[in-house]
Amino acid sequence: MPDRSRNGLISGQELYAALLPDFGDRVFSALPPSLLRQIEPNLIDDPGLRQHSTNVGVLSSFLGHCAGTQDSGWLDRLAEAAILHDIGKTRLDPIVLRKGRDVTRADMDHIRSHGILGAELLETYGGDLYALAATVAGHHHEAHDGSGYPQGLIGEAIPEEARIVALCDVYDALRSPRTYKPAFGHDHAMRIILNGDTRTRPQQFDPYLLGLFKRHSDDIGALYRAE
Ligand SMILES: [Fe+2]
Ligand SMILES: [Fe+2]
Repeated sequence: MPDRSRNGLISGQELYAALLPDFGDRVFSALPPSLLRQIEPNLIDDPGLRQHSTNVGVLSSFLGHCAGTQDSGWLDRLAEAAILHDIGKTRLDPIVLRKGRDVTRADMDHIRSHGILGAELLETYGGDLYALAATVAGHHHEAHDGSGYPQGLIGEAIPEEARIVALCDVYDALRSPRTYKPAFGHDHAMRIILNGDTRTRPQQFDPYLLGLFKRHSDDIGALYRAE
């Protein structure tokens, strides 16, 4: 990673050059072997999950950097924790995950459990990184206005790292194809994040982070990588 304390705010392109092209591969291959064994088949079966995870890791570290931290160790841990935010999806029923628009209420509850399942898995590994990763996994679907899950936490009761990941998670999901929608371009995704649509409302995001996201929109768009 570049020396941010000396150079001040680096650009998204500089961060990209420092982290990529093999950032995701490096993080995944450095995981404890027992964890890698559990998740690798799903990551191979679902390259979209692998790319989504990597993008959210890169974008989250960049947004954390934009928020003004000088602690490059924290930014590196945030990137690695963010990359694991959806790890609980590897424990879900793949048939339910592929249903798209036809999901039932019970299916939704099952899908929504991925945060807690991921946190439980990551907590077993101990250490600062996995404690942070468990926090992020468990809270990345909380919303600033309390409309999120699993706990319906409000505002700063949601850990900062999870607030950062939540915003980057939604951006990447908008840019990527899903069973229920096509991939949107950067401008379209930014319009939805800033103005809302039927699924997304700006009130669900930390307003300070949302302002940074808007201010650094060009870099955010440059950091995104399609599958
Ligand atoms: Fe998620
Ligand atoms: Fe996600």
